[in-house]
Order: sequence, then structure tokens, then C-alpha cells
Amino acid sequence: MSDPTIATARLAPDEEGVARAASLLACGELVAIPTETVYGLGADASDPAAVAKVFSAKQRPRFNPLIAHLPDLAAARREGCFDGAAMRLARAFWPGPLTLVVPVSQTGSVCELARAGLTSVALRVPAHDLARDLLARLGRPLAAPSANRSGRISPTSAEHVLADLDGRIAAVLDGGDSAIGVESTVIACLDSVPRLLRPGGIPRERLAEIVGRDPAAAASSSEPIGPGLLASHYAPRARVRLDANAIEPGEAVLLFGGLVPEGLNHAVAVENLSTSADIGQAAARLFSALRRLDESGATSIAAVRIPENGLGEAINDRLRRAAAPR
Ligand code: TXA
Ligand code: MG
Repeated sequence: MSDPTIATARLAPDEEGVARAASLLACGELVAIPTETVYGLGADASDPAAVAKVFSAKQRPRFNPLIAHLPDLAAARREGCFDGAAMRLARAFWPGPLTLVVPVSQTGSVCELARAGLTSVALRVPAHDLARDLLARLGRPLAAPSANRSGRISPTSAEHVLADLDGRIAAVLDGGDSAIGVESTVIACLDSVPRLLRPGGIPRERLAEIVGRDPAAAASSSEPIGPGLLASHYAPRARVRLDANAIEPGEAVLLFGGLVPEGLNHAVAVENLSTSADIGQAAARLFSALRRLDESGATSIAAVRIPENGLGEAINDRLRRAAAPR
């Protein structure tokens, strides 16, 4: 890793902050922005030089394409071709935590590097007010992967962004804590059948209401999944152990609800994602809790079982990747 070379400005969540963020982005600089899911590392998606900086600041492999963020459906339709299912999904969930992977449109301006050379493009209209103001002001698609070093825990606050990227980006627009806390649901609408590429902020139950079937059934196991869905991701420094019933001495512990694993008194640090077993609250607190447990210095984080309902599927997906062999 090269030494940090620039001073990262922390921009206030007001009109001046948004204007400054937009002008830095228009000049090809990197600005981290708040969204309702996680903070994104923004760059002008139509500018290959700006997009190249995203890959190097994050140390992200270039085969992993970025999501382009737009202010509304009309702007998104200039970038991609929407079939019937894509239109239904966009109308139901935008603005919001849904990303649609669709064929690139002839009028598209997202550069090839942002798409990792694919003929499809990932599009999202975020719901966060500051993000929407910024996108409207910028007037171009904004490439924004999660604003963390590649493979590490996604950021849900400006502090998290700075912990990973201070000195490597021009600014962070501070919008407080992310409300949802896990990344968007990614769905590919490339043929007649929508396929779920990443569980996220829109629970599976709600997708099924719109596409008329369980999106899991739409995923064909013989086809390659999203290029960025690496097995190991969201990784704290500590090892992560799932479905823990008993705690080993010296472990840090991730709890949910009222479940008390055996040996909890041996733990060096404990975080409860939601004492009232509220799965939405658990999602919102997941990444900050993992960061705090990691900061305890424990070599292992033991996580109790978390239910699969609602945002539980996305939480368990992130925990499995955090626990995957590195
Ligand atoms: O909530 C979110 O989606 C956040 C906020 C900032 O919007 N962004 C985010 O971006 O999570 P990122 O880059 O960390 O994840 C994007 C995912 C990756 O798994 C990538 O491989 C996939 O979307 N993706 C992007 N373009 C794709 C494409 N054309 N085909 C398949 N997967 C694609
Ligand atoms: Mg990410």
C-alpha cells in the first residue's frame, strides 16, 4: 500500500457540502457518499481516469464491476435496457436498496472500466436525500462501490470510511449512520428470468411479490454468478466462527436477541445486534458491531445463529463471507 498523499476533507451534510462534493466529483476526484445501505466510494462513472482511481484506492480487482448510481428511473433508462421485470422491480423499489443488472443501452455513458468490460451494467437509484441531491446536481452516473478496502467490512458511517480510506480520497460527505446497514439487493434482468445475484436491503419475500416467484428459483446453478461475489469478503482481522453455541476463552461474541451461549462469561467483548430480536435493527448494526469486536483484539469472533427471515438472509450472507477461508 502506498502512503496516504492527500488530505481527506470531511464535508457537512448541508447544501454547501453537497455542492463541494459534486464539484470535486465533476473534476474527477473521489468522494465517499452516504446512502441508505452503506457508504459508497463515488467517482464520475463516465470518466475512466476517475474510475481507475476507485479501483486503486480500494485495491479492488479490475474484473469486479461497479454499480452506477442515478437520480431517477428516467436517468437509469438512458444507461440500460429495461425489460418488463426490470421495469416492475424499478417501479416497486426505486428509490431504494435495489441494484438492477441490465444490458447496456446504446445511449449509455458508464465507461467500460466501470463495467469491467461487460455488456451489462449495474444500476441503482438510492433513497438517501443527500445522495439524491448530489446525483441530481452532478448530472452524470456515479460509480460507487462500498467505500472500504476490497475484501474488508463495508462502512456505515463517515468514521468507518476514514478508517479505511483517509488520505486516499478527496472527501467524505458525512451523512451520519446508514439506516439499512447492508448493501443493496442485486438482481440481474438479462433474459426473461430475473436472477438474484446478492441478497441485500430488499428482503426476498418482497421481491417475490413483484416478480411473482421466489428469485432463488430463478438462479441457475450452472451459470456463473456476479463476478464480484468472492467467497471471502467483509472480513475482520479476527477469524469468524458461525452458529456458536459455546464460547471459547478469549473470544469476542456477536449476539442476537435473548440467546445466551454457554461460556459467555469468557468473552473479551460482546455486541448484541438487537436485544429485542428485531432483524432490521440487527442489519443496521451488523458492520459497526463487527468493527468494534475486531477492535477488541480478539483472534476469534463467535457469532450465534441468526434467523433467515427478512434482512436475515443478507446478514447471514455477509457473515458466511466474513467466515470464509481467506
Ligand atoms: O448498497 C450498495 O449496493 C452499495 C452502495 C454504495 O450503493 N454499493 C455496493 O457496491 O455494494 P459494490 O461494488 O461493493 O458491490 C457491487 C456488486 C458486486 O458484487 C459486483 O460484482 C456486482 O455488484 N456487479 C456490478 N456490476 C455487475 C454486472 N454487470 N454483472 C453482475 N454483477 C455486477
Ligand atoms: Mg462492497
